[in-house]
Amino acid sequence: MTACIVGWSHSKFGKLDGETSESLIVKAATDAIAHAGIEPRDVDVIYVGNMNGGFVRQEFHSSLPLQAHPDLRFKPSTRVENACATGSAAIHMGLNTLAAGKARFVLVVGVEKMTELNSAQAGEVLIKASYVAEEANIEAGFAGIFGKITSAYFQRYGDKSDALAKIAVKAHRNGAKNPFAHFQKEFAYDFCRTPSDKNPFVAGPLKRTDCSPVTDGAAAVVLADVGTALGMKQAIAFRAAEHVNDFLPMSRRDIVRFEGPATAWQKALAAARLDLLDLSFVESHDCFTSAELIEYEAMGLTAPGEGERAIHEGWVERDGKLPVNVSGGLKAKGHPVGATGVSMHVMSAMQLAGTAPEGLQLPKATLAGVFNMGGAAVANYVSILEPLR
Ligand code: COA
Repeated sequence: MTACIVGWSHSKFGKLDGETSESLIVKAATDAIAHAGIEPRDVDVIYVGNMNGGFVRQEFHSSLPLQAHPDLRFKPSTRVENACATGSAAIHMGLNTLAAGKARFVLVVGVEKMTELNSAQAGEVLIKASYVAEEANIEAGFAGIFGKITSAYFQRYGDKSDALAKIAVKAHRNGAKNPFAHFQKEFAYDFCRTPSDKNPFVAGPLKRTDCSPVTDGAAAVVLADVGTALGMKQAIAFRAAEHVNDFLPMSRRDIVRFEGPATAWQKALAAARLDLLDLSFVESHDCFTSAELIEYEAMGLTAPGEGERAIHEGWVERDGKLPVNVSGGLKAKGHPVGATGVSMHVMSAMQLAGTAPEGLQLPKATLAGVFNMGGAAVANYVSILEPLR
């Protein structure tokens, strides 16, 4: 155990007209510093997680947190990017900085302002997180990549549209309880299961309700070394933090098996000396419902091809043996790509601290697993979190 989350903040996720990446960063940074109970001058190092790639014209983001307070001027700050795992990548940079003894307090802000573009334009930006040489001409942007993966999964194991619809229903039922979520309403099973004008096919077997939305938002954490964290009012420790990259081209991998995510999970559970079912809950990267289905297999909850059991038998429901995406996940909470990994850590920290919003808080939350991925199972991050005391 090398570091802890000692403060956090989370914006409302959604279509945030009137907000810019700058205004979101400033608010998230200010609120996380205040929540940690430190002064801006106490921050030693800053990382900003932002994918961008054309979502907004402002590309250079590292100094924007300095707008939060004059005492942040002259602090070293760096923008970090690792596709949809950008937020976790920024947190890992913070953990490495603490492990190197280069800081006592690190501020990490994840942000994305996506909705200045329409869905088709956003898809053009997101497809840059594929292996462009082979995959960029696939239709429907990044949804097309997962449409292809889902079709291949269905060919191997049979049509799992029922399971995907149930995963969407679960996400929205949980998201309805999350005041930070983009969508805060329940979706009926029949609506998610049946193609319609309001729920058309987007890519391959994936319908609109199988996709995470295009979302604006920010989240931030303050990290500290364990010795420092012992004196703080709240401290959520990293019992493990693992990062595994796989080949980028889908043609070099069996894309129906998420081997990178599986390796990251195995390494993290081994480092934490835990079994998967020791965890109280998992926040997993459901950019598409089929991603969550395959992730049940990658985390070791079921054998390959049997992920549907986890949803059909209720294991991953809020009251199941391993609740997955109690926050609503990317599907309902939204997926502002640079913010997502930080958001997953914040949602987990709130649960472990017992301070999640009413209705969202789990009765038992002692160990959390977080899985955040960039690209189609390419940059994979697993964190295992527990209260320090
Ligand atoms: N799930 C459920 N409902 C959604 C939705 C989603 N993902 N996205 C939009 N909606 C709803 C809107 O709220 C709106 O509802 P209303 O008519 O009641 O107001 C309606 O659908 C139309 O919204 P619109 O934004 O015009 O839909 P769209 O067809 O342009 O976009 C997607 C839908 C799925 C194509 C878009 O959200 C998308 O591209 N998602 C994937 C993003 C992505 O690839 N992220 C990276 C993953 S790694």
